[in-house]
Amino acid sequence: MGNFNEFTITDAVVERVHEAEDPRIREISEAVVRHLHALVREVRPSQEEWKFVIDFLTRTGQISDDKRQEFILLSDTLGISMLIDAINHPAGGGATETTVLGPFYVESPPEKTLGEDISAGMEGQPLYVSGSVSGGDGKPLAGAIVDVWHSDDDGHYDVQQLDAIGGLAMRARFRADEAGRFHFWTIKPAAYPIPHDGPVGDMLKAQGRHPWRPAHVHFMIDAPEHERLVTHVFVAGDPYLDSDAVFGVKDSLIREFPEHLAGTAPDGRRMDQPYSHLHYDFQLESKPAAKG
Ligand code: BEZ
Ligand code: FE
Repeated sequence: MGNFNEFTITDAVVERVHEAEDPRIREISEAVVRHLHALVREVRPSQEEWKFVIDFLTRTGQISDDKRQEFILLSDTLGISMLIDAINHPAGGGATETTVLGPFYVESPPEKTLGEDISAGMEGQPLYVSGSVSGGDGKPLAGAIVDVWHSDDDGHYDVQQLDAIGGLAMRARFRADEAGRFHFWTIKPAAYPIPHDGPVGDMLKAQGRHPWRPAHVHFMIDAPEHERLVTHVFVAGDPYLDSDAVFGVKDSLIREFPEHLAGTAPDGRRMDQPYSHLHYDFQLESKPAAKG
């Protein structure tokens, strides 16, 4: 039957997806149709406005490639990445809270030994990072894999300036020691704007929003029989903590990065200039099968 009107067309489309073999596909397809139709009925776009939406999504796809993922930026800036994070990692239970992965993680980062400097000669204030990894029961997770990555003191990641700096920097993979501890040297990261020279940047501007993220260090931590932890530690006092462009800040992830005068650092290294220190003790959640 045809002759659909503004209201009957929704049921007609929903009915059409009833034959989907996979029940999850059917459930999601129905919800997509119902919610998109309700949205359109609510905002009542003109034909020109709908064309603008199609153009916006087309540009979002066209600017994306293996180095830039504009759809992830769109998901991040619309709060969808953090909504999915909240659904899959509800707060409580004692495990370290999670936040967005972001687009600057590099698979199989350079493996370094504990205590190494990962700054690759980048300029900035030295930062000593120390911490530990334990399970939900508080027992140290010996040998946990700790991936770290962060921006330079100008707010750029290595992958945004590979030609200028000649290779990866400010990122590494460590293996925690027998007591689940790790430590390394790097430089203190700065706040930075997310890439905003594409459609997502246009959207932020039109919405009267800034593109900035508060300064942070990313961590991805894995240990057998535990859920992977994807998180950041934010620098206390950063002016963008309350208005992160991707809504990724959680109070439990904010730490002071206290500055120390030149002298002997906690690992015995003799520092001839001031340095900052970040310490964070991470707690991983047990995988369901291993719980109990
Ligand atoms: C990041 O923290 O690296 C990031 C997260 C979301 C969007 C852009 C960058
Ligand atoms: Fe980041």
